[in-house]
Amino acid sequence: MFDLKEQIKNIWYKMPPNIKYRVYTLKKSRPMEEVLTRLQSNNINLRELNALEVFGKTGEWHTLDYGYKVKSLEVWEIDSSCKASLKRNFPFATVKIVDSYMEVERCNKKYSLIVIDNPMSTYGDYCEHFSLFPKMVTLCDENAIIIINVIPKINEDTKAEYPYLFNDIQLEKRRQFYKTNCPDKLTFEEIDSAYKNMALKEHFKTEWSFFHKRNFVYYYVFKLKKI
Ligand SMILES: C[S@@+](CC[C@H](N)C(=O)[O-])C[C@H]1O[C@@H](n2cnc3c(N)ncnc32)[C@H](O)[C@@H]1O
Repeated sequence: MFDLKEQIKNIWYKMPPNIKYRVYTLKKSRPMEEVLTRLQSNNINLRELNALEVFGKTGEWHTLDYGYKVKSLEVWEIDSSCKASLKRNFPFATVKIVDSYMEVERCNKKYSLIVIDNPMSTYGDYCEHFSLFPKMVTLCDENAIIIINVIPKINEDTKAEYPYLFNDIQLEKRRQFYKTNCPDKLTFEEIDSAYKNMALKEHFKTEWSFFHKRNFVYYYVFKLKKI
């Protein structure tokens, strides 16, 4: 039987990356594109950035938005079935099939843009992006930008759609990481100060930061400078 969805998937998979990138940029709502605009208005030259995407998948959720605009790109991903698509989507990039939590401990390279598009809840022994820190900060160049997925709170509709969100383990990990008694309702100020304080302990000061909405997940974007 003719399966239109399957046909479209095949065409998309085989599309050369430069054309795929153009098609992708026609999509309407692309929060990462808006983040890039805000970075540029903060005098960040994307062409000078050495970027690391810590959770790569195939790169089609948001890495395509910035991957072609930066100086260099490295992508980490645990799922080896994503490797061919990553190589195809970013022929110029270094692609590593690794557990990012182990890789962050081994890595001694420096990056000036680190993007952490982590899963939203608990997975394996991990939760959101919490165990990447504080080590991740030490991979920052003298000047670097970190972009992370954060979830201030969720409403009932979101909980109905993703019942595993804010399970007991996740709430306990959030309580510890953000040092709060209300892990299900975080203010932007609480989130901001958690990452700022952590960076300070690693001798980085946060020069500026902002939040940008994706859905119930926000990008938290902060600019670090080595002290
Ligand atoms: C939200 S998706 C990333 C989407 C991607 N940034 C993009 O632009 O298309 C999260 C990815 O994290 C990967 N992942 C989960 N645990 C991981 C781990 N421990 N190390 C590396 N990657 C992991 C999953 O396989 C999944 O592909």
